[in-house]
Amino acid sequence: MSRVFSGIQPTGEPHIGNYFGAMQNYVKLGQDYGKNSIYCVVDLHALTNPNAFDPALLAQRTLDMAVANFAVGLDPAQVTFFVQSQVPEHQELSWVLTNITPVGELERMTQYKDKAGQLESVPAGLLMYPVLMAADILLYKADTVPVGEDQTQHIELTREIARKFNHTFGETFPEPRAVNNKQALRIPGVDGHGKMSKSKGEQSTIGLFEPLDSIWAKLRVAPTDPARVRRTDPGDPDVCLVGDYHKLFSDDQTLRTVYDGCRSAGIGCVDCKKLLMTGIEEHLSPIQARGEALRADLDSVRDALAQGTREARAIAAPVMEEVRSKVGFLRP
Ligand code: TYM
Repeated sequence: MSRVFSGIQPTGEPHIGNYFGAMQNYVKLGQDYGKNSIYCVVDLHALTNPNAFDPALLAQRTLDMAVANFAVGLDPAQVTFFVQSQVPEHQELSWVLTNITPVGELERMTQYKDKAGQLESVPAGLLMYPVLMAADILLYKADTVPVGEDQTQHIELTREIARKFNHTFGETFPEPRAVNNKQALRIPGVDGHGKMSKSKGEQSTIGLFEPLDSIWAKLRVAPTDPARVRRTDPGDPDVCLVGDYHKLFSDDQTLRTVYDGCRSAGIGCVDCKKLLMTGIEEHLSPIQARGEALRADLDSVRDALAQGTREARAIAAPVMEEVRSKVGFLRP
């Protein structure tokens, strides 16, 4: 049976990179796969970031991340949605997989190298991060994983871990594949410094629940095509992050107006950004309104998560039992 799995870290407010890169696909796949589309707020993964050592904040952000996913259109009655730490089988499977994963493979992960490079003391959890991620996916025997391009390497490793397990202990897991949104493989940060990322701080992100005036303050000063020095110079919207964002937020007609206008110097960057703001407002306002309504009824959100945990465990428990027998743990 075909299953979808994905996870999102509660490390801060979700941004438009998370939304277009992954969350939109959660919603789309949820419509096709129903309860066999399984999504999870990965609070265990969040612990690999020492900034998460704030117990009240981690719990709050975990709940906020559930709200955000429901606000963009995930319906917990239709899909399976839960919090990772509430299903202990994730950690148990992770330990088993740790023993078939070479340290060398983990050390060559790009995200590990980037993050570890910025730390004086590297927590072991950061190295093990992709093994826990493999456990998340394989615990549900999922074959389809909607993610942004930055996770491709981790999914590749998950495939290798699945292959190794199957080879060592007998055919058990499918080899999952990543599903990307081709329009939003790697959304750039609004500050112009690489990928938009929660961990880079607010100057990099456009938050899904960010007030529009705050978004405009960032967008107004966002870098554009550096070759377009004067208003009268033609620009290239394909090398401009405002052009990239237009592809996500604007309808075909606006897109044509700004692309043709930029190339012919018929439109200035400020006007182009204002048109983008219109698209952003149209997209984000309904999401923000739904978020506000959900925040006014957090008991229902908690109830939905409790139900999600039951549904997830109903799938995870027998798979974990199969793994325990296959590796040879003495059963009671
Ligand atoms: P996280 O929380 O960093 O990001 C959540 C999702 O958003 C995508 N994403 C982006 N996509 C396009 N452009 C961007 N600028 C951008 N920034 C983030 C990410 O690719 C991700 O899909 N390791 C995962 C969490 C995880 C997971 C899993 C995912 C844990 N277990 C199992 C899939 C399956 C992560 O860091 O997500």
